[in-house]
Amino acid sequence: MPKNSRSSGSAPDIRPATGRLGVLTPGLGAVATTFMAGVESVRRGHSKPIGSLTQMATIRLGKRTENRSPLIKDFVPIAALDDIVFGAWDPFPDNALEAARHAGVLEEKHIAPIADFLKAIVPMPAVFDNKYVTRINGTNVKKGKTKRDLAEQLRQDIRDFKARNKLERVVMVWCASTEIFIKAGPQHATIEQFEKAMERNDDAIAPSMLYAYAALMEGVPFCNGAPNLSVDMPALLKLSQEKGVPISGKDFKTGQTWMKTVIAPGLKARMLGLAGWYSTNILGNRDGEVLDDPASFKTKEESKLSVLHTILQPELYPDLYKDFSHVVRINYYPPRGDNKEGWDNIDIVGWMGYPMQIKVNFLCRDSILAAPIVLDLALFSDFAHRAGMKGIQEWLSFYYKSPMAAPGLQPEHDLFIQQTKLKNTLRHLMGEEQITHLGLEYYA
Ligand SMILES: NC(=O)c1ccc[n+]([C@@H]2O[C@H](COP(=O)([O-])OP(=O)(O)OC[C@H]3O[C@@H](n4cnc5c(N)ncnc54)[C@H](O)[C@@H]3O)[C@@H](O)[C@H]2O)c1
Repeated sequence: MPKNSRSSGSAPDIRPATGRLGVLTPGLGAVATTFMAGVESVRRGHSKPIGSLTQMATIRLGKRTENRSPLIKDFVPIAALDDIVFGAWDPFPDNALEAARHAGVLEEKHIAPIADFLKAIVPMPAVFDNKYVTRINGTNVKKGKTKRDLAEQLRQDIRDFKARNKLERVVMVWCASTEIFIKAGPQHATIEQFEKAMERNDDAIAPSMLYAYAALMEGVPFCNGAPNLSVDMPALLKLSQEKGVPISGKDFKTGQTWMKTVIAPGLKARMLGLAGWYSTNILGNRDGEVLDDPASFKTKEESKLSVLHTILQPELYPDLYKDFSHVVRINYYPPRGDNKEGWDNIDIVGWMGYPMQIKVNFLCRDSILAAPIVLDLALFSDFAHRAGMKGIQEWLSFYYKSPMAAPGLQPEHDLFIQQTKLKNTLRHLMGEEQITHLGLEYYA
């Protein structure tokens, strides 16, 4: 049996979601504050949790004729929204109220009624080095002789946060800026090498890795909302197995890439060819500013480019997908703030080689799409932990642009396969039958 799964058909022996759950976010920017404000707004009955599967989706159980489709939150023992307590780290000292106003995602009419709640979320000093995120200079930053010292300070923060708020459990979701591109090297190969590299302040150890290390050492599930390596390396993978902690990543699947993982499976399902896919965006928030730096953009670009090849499988379908051109651009354009505008031009090929075009103009709100993903990842990761899952949670690929997968395994990018995998994992963990959609029994 693989280490990160349970035996199939087993009776559920999942620890219940008693007590309070802490959700810690490195980063208290647009995504984190929109997530926190939204949860509070739902708790007060001011909004509906639109976009969240844990809160709104149902799951079919058994045969279609049984008419059993409970809400996921009634089927699976996930923590209640009322039991969540928020905490964060950020190199800017602004509390969540100031940060939400600065981010400019939410209107004052949604912020003002929960101002007290937001004001009380004050970021802890961050582990931050602007070598890794060059466009930011904050003052709320930890000091330490070595990176290992800094990781130990983060561990202490987690323990203090837990004790202060009388929490039973904690999860961490990386909502901080995208760091520069780093390839996994010998420093990331084993836990020992990683710890030695922290001690000698090796450049290959980025702040996000220290947060991930601290989380795992404290038995805290870690989700990576940005494309930087963080937990996606052999050393921390091993640590997550040893500590029995679920991990997942990378890079929240929100706007344009989410659209890609909807449209590309549709083209492939109908055996239509692709000559090229050109994607461009304008974006004016701090994330856009950070991504204006070529080193951070390279991390993002790698994450965005991998999607189409994996879905379309040119090696299996050379006549349809060999050598298609795929270009992705992000342009920092301040007037738009968080309201990104994306354009996609898709050159497709049909019967007898005739060319056709699809144009998508997506006026989306990045953080509005990301916030429910943060909520679902936090709740599902906590659930997975209580269910005895550890290591990479492939069933959470649904939420990521660049899903982590076991070494040597191609990640699954198709949104609909990811959704089936997610729901079947919930069925599996709860001791329900898998749904294959074969359906022959209805015609016997
Ligand atoms: N919004 C989306 O749709 C979306 C989608 C995919 C990924 N993401 C990623 O999510 C992350 C957050 O996006 P955002 O729009 O909130 O950005 P943002 O710039 O508004 O917020 C990021 C915050 O992280 C802080 N930060 C930077 N380095 C830090 C560190 N080492 N420790 C703690 N805090 C640190 C920054 O000061 C900033 O306040 C980015 O990496 C972004 O690429 C966002």
